[in-house]
Amino acid sequence: MNTRYETLAKRAAAFGQEHVLRFYDSLSDDSKRRLLDQIEAIDFPAFAALADGAKRNAAVAGRIAPIEAIDATAYDAREKERLTEKGWELLRQGKVAAFVVAGGQGSRLGHEGPKGTFRIGLPSGKSLFQLQAERLLNLSGRAGRTIPWYVMTSADNDAETSRFFQSSGYFGYAPDDIRMVKQQSLPAIDEAGRMLLAARDEIGFAPSGNGDAFASLKRSGALADMKRRGIEWVFYYNVDNALIRIADPLFVGAAAHYGNPIATKAAYKTHPEEKVGVLCLKDGRPAVLEYSEVPERLLYEKDAAGRLVYGLGNLSIHLFRLDFIERHAERDIAYHAAHKKIKTVDGRGEPFTPDAPNGCKLETFIFDYFPLAERMTVLSFRREEEFAPVKNKEGEDSPRTACRLVLDLHRKWLAEAGAGPQPPDGRDIEISPLVSYAGEGLTPDVVKSLLERVPSCDGEGESG
Ligand code: UD1
Repeated sequence: MNTRYETLAKRAAAFGQEHVLRFYDSLSDDSKRRLLDQIEAIDFPAFAALADGAKRNAAVAGRIAPIEAIDATAYDAREKERLTEKGWELLRQGKVAAFVVAGGQGSRLGHEGPKGTFRIGLPSGKSLFQLQAERLLNLSGRAGRTIPWYVMTSADNDAETSRFFQSSGYFGYAPDDIRMVKQQSLPAIDEAGRMLLAARDEIGFAPSGNGDAFASLKRSGALADMKRRGIEWVFYYNVDNALIRIADPLFVGAAAHYGNPIATKAAYKTHPEEKVGVLCLKDGRPAVLEYSEVPERLLYEKDAAGRLVYGLGNLSIHLFRLDFIERHAERDIAYHAAHKKIKTVDGRGEPFTPDAPNGCKLETFIFDYFPLAERMTVLSFRREEEFAPVKNKEGEDSPRTACRLVLDLHRKWLAEAGAGPQPPDGRDIEISPLVSYAGEGLTPDVVKSLLERVPSCDGEGESG
């Protein structure tokens, strides 16, 4: 009879993965058991098929054409009011949920904990999660109904995210109205498709991409929870956008008005190489071309007016109708191979940190569900009011730029509220989302009290 080791070694070898056991003999009994447990849990045939699919996906192309967007900044006051009221009605009826995808590793930012715990350097020291919670609490308070909040995590950060919410007292939310949804992880592979070891006794796993969002909602029971609550629209967003207007009533109302199963907020790219996906039509269906995959000739193509033909940037701010999620939650979508620097071990089993991409993580992308909708509502908004991504440690899309964008917007709100164009001493005033969600409610009294307390922005960003 075969030992457990022999059975699993044979199984791994059948898929070209025998090397995962190459340090086995040198391991302690505990480590041996852990590694065998990991191998046992891998569905090798399924993994081989999806890794193979990811390789082929790179070559797949469709007929690409620009997509039409509705300019939401051009609504006249009456139309804006009408759509916003429609959104409020849905919020009051408890038909809107918030869903943040926060399972990613945030490796570009170099922050050790979950990205949502990151403080971008605002005077208040608030973390991304706190900003989000307070915007939700503002809307919930005015709607008279709590907007339930679903947080997608991964094996990498689930426990720490839960701890952060707990130790923050759920930011004033009832714990029952916040639900963690853990996504799945997959082995990372080298360019030859061999699984990378994270240590002698451990295969390196990475979260499987934000395209796991619908399946994770289903697997975890969160989808059933949404149904039980009577949710109709799910507001999906990235954890790292410091300006995210979660469950924006105008956006909700517009999505419901146009009646397509998906709506998205978009904004024009600042430059062709900006690292945002582009919205387009692919074979006549709505789609996004990810920035790492846009063919060069499309990246720079301009129209007669000199505007980028494929300049409509994906801000990762979407509304999905719940019935669309339900219908497609178990559908397979293609995997993309994201080439990255992945920490692994060298030939002697010692930790090795590469300085160039040495392998890839296999990920599905949420927007690969878009073509399943015949039509989708694309609304363009002012990016400076909606989008402050925190991706890199420094430079473009960094804590410093995001902090600046938040404070510049608050400065604009204050000017509009009659506080004068410059805050006192040129210093920055941060407005709590609990005071104002989008510039509303800044009465002379409120402005006066804000002007009385003016700390400054350090712009550095810090963790914790
Ligand atoms: C993403 C979009 C890009 C868009 C940009 C806007 C994707 C694939 N690309 O790019 O088109 O223009 O945001 O800022 O969405 N995440 C998970 N689990 C994972 C991987 C990621 O929850 O396994 C989450 C991250 O925590 C993050 C979001 O998905 O909140 C986006 O992931 P990230 O890798 O940062 O995407 P970008 O490259 O910035």
